[in-house]
Amino acid sequence: MKIIVTGGAGFIGGNFVHHMVNKYPDYEIVNLDLLTYAGNLETLKPVEDRPNYQFVRGDIADRKFVFELFEKERPDMIVNFAAESHVDRSITDPEAFVRTNVMGTTTLLDACREYGIQRYHQVSTDEVYGDLPLDRPDLFFTEETPLHTSSPYSSSKAAADLFVLAYQRTYGLPVTISRCSNNYGPYHFPEKLIPLMISRALADGELPVYGDGANVRDWLHVSDHCGAIDLILHKGRVGEIYNVGGHNERTNLEVVKTILAALDKPESLIRFVKDRPGHDRRYAIDPTKIESELGWKPMYSFDTGIRQTIEWYLANESWWKHIISGEYSRYFEKMYGDRLE
Ligand code: NAD
Ligand code: DAU
Repeated sequence: MKIIVTGGAGFIGGNFVHHMVNKYPDYEIVNLDLLTYAGNLETLKPVEDRPNYQFVRGDIADRKFVFELFEKERPDMIVNFAAESHVDRSITDPEAFVRTNVMGTTTLLDACREYGIQRYHQVSTDEVYGDLPLDRPDLFFTEETPLHTSSPYSSSKAAADLFVLAYQRTYGLPVTISRCSNNYGPYHFPEKLIPLMISRALADGELPVYGDGANVRDWLHVSDHCGAIDLILHKGRVGEIYNVGGHNERTNLEVVKTILAALDKPESLIRFVKDRPGHDRRYAIDPTKIESELGWKPMYSFDTGIRQTIEWYLANESWWKHIISGEYSRYFEKMYGDRLE
């Protein structure tokens, strides 16, 4: 079995490469990644010398490159993680999101049509469903919830999903889609809420909370997401969408306070800043389908997962300090400079 994993130098893709290389020594894992600002080969250090692993640098939206790679590797499966993934960046530069998330996906789908494939798996997101009101805790996203996107990021992901489903119906391509809630865990890029707050708190910096901090996210440890995709690849039904989430809803303020308490830092570091435009209020996944059909169950509660994650950031300072000392520090100035009220 040869699997091309795209975006394997990013947060979730990197964790998935670790998972697959370790669990399936007989599979060949080809990690295709452009190494944008979010891609980091340091994440692959633990597996880079394994005989069943190789890295290829390239752009999923570069048709010539992708077709040549398929010609050479003849993969059995594709798992597409590669994406522009940060909502705030999509608000300042939507075009990059259309190029990678939409055109990159259709380029991969065309290569699958040309060369044949056992499975194309699209790693999508719960953000395609839009948001839920805070005063209706009884509501959850199911696979039947209509697509209703808010940001350029989520719109590009929804567009990609529709192409994936169209290629199944029109060309009979064997596809699956997973739509997961917010991930956290090791190797998470420090522009996203949890690693950003851990790194800022450790430096005794201000913790920028958007709006009133009451927005709710449904947190899942990244290794539980990787386990879900593994199950879908091996047992999932072609043409199906599977929602992935572990019922770990928390307000942003609760998450930030949990991190401060774990690091023994004062809540006075919290700074409420200008809200994200179009900010989704609440995400909450109903995972009944993947649980009942595939027997998936998360291993981590939020309390154990966040503790493990904070310990990982404490033990792996060089991984994230290397990132925030470079180009990323200029990004922080640009994003947050005019946000502070
Ligand atoms: P990430 O930003 O950490 O990583 C993205 C990776 O894709 C990087 O390594 C980057 O170099 C690579 N990449 C970007 N453009 C590329 C291109 N044109 N060609 C090849 N590689 C390219 O993202 P992540 O948080 O790991 O998310 C991975 C996937 O999971 C995304 O598709 C995202 O939409 C989805 N997702 C993320 C979350 C989350 O909470 N982070 C939750 C649900 C779904
Ligand atoms: O739900 C899945 C999605 O989760 C993925 O599809 C996205 O790729 C991923 O980035 C994530 O999107 P969010 O926008 O939910 O994640 P982010 O970490 O950017 O923000 C989480 C919440 O925290 C959100 O309500 C905004 C808030 N926030 C974020 C940052 C970076 C702050 O209050 N302050 C901040 O500085």
